[in-house]
Amino acid sequence: MTKIYKTHSLLPHNTFGIDATAENFVEFSSVDDIVAFLSKGFDGRSLVIGGGSNLLFVNDFDGTVFHSAIMGMEIVDENENDLLLRVGSGVNWDELVAYTIEQGWGGLENLSAIPGEVGASAVQNVGAYGVEAGELIAKVETVRLDDATCWEFTHDECSFSYRHSIFKDTEKGKHIITYVTYRLSKKPVFKLTYGNLSEKVEQLGGATLANVRRAVCEIREAKLPSPEKIGSAGSFFMNPVVPVSVAESLAKEYLSMPQYPLACGDVKLSAGWLIEQCGWKDTPHEHVGVYKHQALVVINRGGATGKNVLDFAEAVVASVKEKFGVTLNMEVNVID
Ligand code: EPU
Repeated sequence: MTKIYKTHSLLPHNTFGIDATAENFVEFSSVDDIVAFLSKGFDGRSLVIGGGSNLLFVNDFDGTVFHSAIMGMEIVDENENDLLLRVGSGVNWDELVAYTIEQGWGGLENLSAIPGEVGASAVQNVGAYGVEAGELIAKVETVRLDDATCWEFTHDECSFSYRHSIFKDTEKGKHIITYVTYRLSKKPVFKLTYGNLSEKVEQLGGATLANVRRAVCEIREAKLPSPEKIGSAGSFFMNPVVPVSVAESLAKEYLSMPQYPLACGDVKLSAGWLIEQCGWKDTPHEHVGVYKHQALVVINRGGATGKNVLDFAEAVVASVKEKFGVTLNMEVNVID
């Protein structure tokens, strides 16, 4: 079934709590439905959204917003070690993670409690605690917006990198994701090297899928605002990557600056730390601020417009540039 709404409120569709509207809002629950809709011919501005956990609406959207309500999960292949699980793009991300853990399938446990839906996991290559969703994605199925044809992208064709994929690059704005297939393990191998994760897991009784999920949920709860209580889009900025020469001179000046050397030779810095050092945790603003436990997260303190948030974010970027000479890029997709 395809549902079509006019002048539709986007308030329930963005975790920032921005009160914007879409001129048209189209929600579909099967591939056949969206193919039939697009086959009639579609042009004009379009935006495909998932759970709206990584979007900032600066204005009302003068076009068509598409939302997948394709549900369901099925095993499409398996052997004694692993299995391929094909999941509808409208499935809630954390319901997927919880289900795979109940079944005893490993892979997604470090990605517990991330807001959003399955389709977006492939666009954004969501990541946390040393794991990125792209590592587990075997295939992405889509329908093209311009000609309603069905496409399949293999893992390699998706070109996953830090919070990035082909769907944010050459294929940006061209596809509606319908299904994502994940490769999960029947013999889980735990990844516990991030921060104090292994310590937390030990405290809970040792490495099991359920304990890793619990530990991750507890760490997230302590550091990140719950979208039901405080409007935000999780990390607003990406962690900046700088050449080693820049990292070395910054380390000399700022002895406590966290730095993470990457395999490519560059160095990842912590955007949260840089923002905190610029004093933003202590700068009260009426509508917008950074979260007290994680400065990387810009929050709606109540009644913020998208423009308020964007102005605030630009002031944060300017201050980090001025103090450290480092440019922060937004992780959030700004829609104006
Ligand atoms: N830090 C500060 N002040 C802050 C925040 C962080 O000094 O206000 C320092 C911490 O002490 C730590 C370092 O910065 O030394 C890194 O902090 P953290 O471990 O919280 O991770 P992050 O790099 O800030 C990234 C992801 C998060 C993900 C965590 C855990 C990005 C943009 N963000 O944050 O992702 O949960 O790692 O893996 O890569 C999201 O994308 O919405 C998100 C929450």
